[in-house]
Amino acid sequence: MPQLCLGIESSCDETAAAIVTADRRILSSVIFEQTLLHQNYGGVVPEIAARAHAECLDICVREALTQSKVALNDIALIAVTAGPGLIGGVLSGVMCAKGIAAARGMPLIGVNHLAGHALTPRLTDDIAYPYLMLLVSGGHCQFLIVTGPSSFTRLGGTVDDAPGEAFDKTARLLGLPTPGGPQVEAAARSGDPARFALPRPLLDRADCDMSFSGLKTALRRARDLIVAEQGGLTKADQADLSASFQAAVAEVLAIKTRRALQLFRDAHPTARPILAVAGGVAANQTIRTALAAAAAEHAATYVAPPLSLCTDNAAMIAWAGLEQYAGGARSDLTLAARPRWPLDTRAAPQLGSGRKGAKA
Ligand code: KG4
Ligand code: ZN
Repeated sequence: MPQLCLGIESSCDETAAAIVTADRRILSSVIFEQTLLHQNYGGVVPEIAARAHAECLDICVREALTQSKVALNDIALIAVTAGPGLIGGVLSGVMCAKGIAAARGMPLIGVNHLAGHALTPRLTDDIAYPYLMLLVSGGHCQFLIVTGPSSFTRLGGTVDDAPGEAFDKTARLLGLPTPGGPQVEAAARSGDPARFALPRPLLDRADCDMSFSGLKTALRRARDLIVAEQGGLTKADQADLSASFQAAVAEVLAIKTRRALQLFRDAHPTARPILAVAGGVAANQTIRTALAAAAAEHAATYVAPPLSLCTDNAAMIAWAGLEQYAGGARSDLTLAARPRWPLDTRAAPQLGSGRKGAKA
């Protein structure tokens, strides 16, 4: 196994570079946020993101090297997110990584962004395979059984919006700033989660699939009713709507997690069950608590990486690169950037995944 890996991540709106060792030390993890660049547009603008990545990737990599006090010559492997994501950003990262690999004659490995999230608990908590992973972010929501660095079985996931996307849209509906997740969570703290009876979709289905777009529509209706009655939202309305929304998401995730844990136990009856979470939404305290309770019911160990490693970062890409390289995976200078890249290629495509097939 190579000892030092440089990881590069640029698939959404964070430009990130990190140096990680084979014995699980993060020597540096640098993240340049683009929040300010996108804040007037109500979401990430792909073209602006791609330009910003291209402009600062080299600075970001240099900063990661400086902070880790490692020379480029000492790096044994370069790992880069090769998808899924906004193609301009992914391309910027892949070209940067290829440039360094070609100039220095270093091995290169293209990593699936979701594999980065899914393998993070092995970096932070050294957990053993197999484990159940719930990935909940702004673009993704799925249950995976992870049995190896490149071996994922998808049990189910969202059929429409990702929960992070729903949090972001909720924030916009309520007039809160973006990114919405932390804002809705903060507003919810003083709110009454029982004031609005929002739907819990797909609970009648015995599988692990989820849907969050109807929840957002119900929330809009509740908001519109209040606005029609009183001309606007008070702080208390904002708080109650946020809390009711958050409670619905947490409950759906917890109930589906119990089902996924049952499927995990059926598939691996002799393994001690482990539930690991990753992705930006796993930063939410109410959701973390609900998931921990679901794990406890199944006597499963619950692993939630620190918040800084739950959201997008390059340390997870470096670690996934190290593990996958050790497992025999290789890339070369023909490595392509992929907007879509399902982790489990055998799983049925999801509804809403478009003509080109499943995004992830
Ligand atoms: O994993 P991530 O950094 O990026 C990808 O989507 O890959 O996740 C970002 C998402 C955003 O939608 C953000 O609103 C959401 O995670 N998020 C949260 C919280 N912090 C971030 N959602 C709910 N509660 C939070 N505290
Ligand atoms: Zn992510």
